[in-house]
Amino acid sequence: MEKKRKEEKRRKDEDLFKVVDSTIDPRTYLVLEKIASKLKIDTYLGAISSGKEAKIYPAKTIDGKFYAVKIYYVSTASHKRAVEKYTLGDKRFEKIKVSNTRQLIFTWAKKEFKNLKRMYEAGVWVPEPILVMENVLVMQFIGDNGVRAPLLKELPDDEIDQDLYDQVVSQIQLMVNKAKLVHGDLSEYNVMVYDHIYIIDVSQSLPVDHENARELLLRDITRVNEFFSSKGVKVLDIEEILKKLEIP
Ligand SMILES: Nc1ncnc2c1ncn2[C@@H]1O[C@H](COP(=O)(O)OP(=O)(O)O)[C@@H](O)[C@H]1O
Ligand SMILES: [Mg+2]
Repeated sequence: MEKKRKEEKRRKDEDLFKVVDSTIDPRTYLVLEKIASKLKIDTYLGAISSGKEAKIYPAKTIDGKFYAVKIYYVSTASHKRAVEKYTLGDKRFEKIKVSNTRQLIFTWAKKEFKNLKRMYEAGVWVPEPILVMENVLVMQFIGDNGVRAPLLKELPDDEIDQDLYDQVVSQIQLMVNKAKLVHGDLSEYNVMVYDHIYIIDVSQSLPVDHENARELLLRDITRVNEFFSSKGVKVLDIEEILKKLEIP
């Protein structure tokens, strides 16, 4: 009986995960199974991106809908340092006890989820946050049928125009003035382009009253201006953009 149940479970796993991924640890597998039953996911497809801190997988529901699933790697030294750096001095996270690396990473995922939610509710164009569980974050999939939309970086030169630049500037304005957050890692790599732009990757975003907020905001705007300038788009003076932003 026991053997039979194990066999059934194994078969279920094989169905649920289209691609067996050795970077997913057993505990994360359990979390993915829980999420699957909650959101009616019938398949996790192969990773569409492997970054320094996380991988992104498309997940397909029984209704043929797609989600983007961001899985943070657990327990790497560099990761631990990064989380400590970014959550230090952020009032919202002072109460969370960070006893081990795993916990730090859960905090990190939760932080991205909260930032995403705060931006989404302020009307910023970000993927809709769906849920976060331990080191796994689920959000709206940007693209069609599990094929992701291009990054700003990947667009052909002739599609990079004034309108896209204006969209990015207006989203920065919404993030700062309405969501009261500074992105902190904004660049052509963290903007997707579908019917309009989507700002992604907000794990390191900080409240506008954080001591590093102004410096990060300046870096974000500088990078955006440099990218659009290099494509021949006429950009605003940084001072002019800053004038419209409410930074304490
Ligand atoms: N909601 C989403 N829908 C579709 N693709 C996404 C989504 N979020 C991220 N991606 C893809 O995954 C990549 C990595 O995501 P990102 O959040 O930037 O993580 P990283 O920390 O690895 O940079 C992005 O460059 C994009 O190609
Ligand atoms: Mg990124």
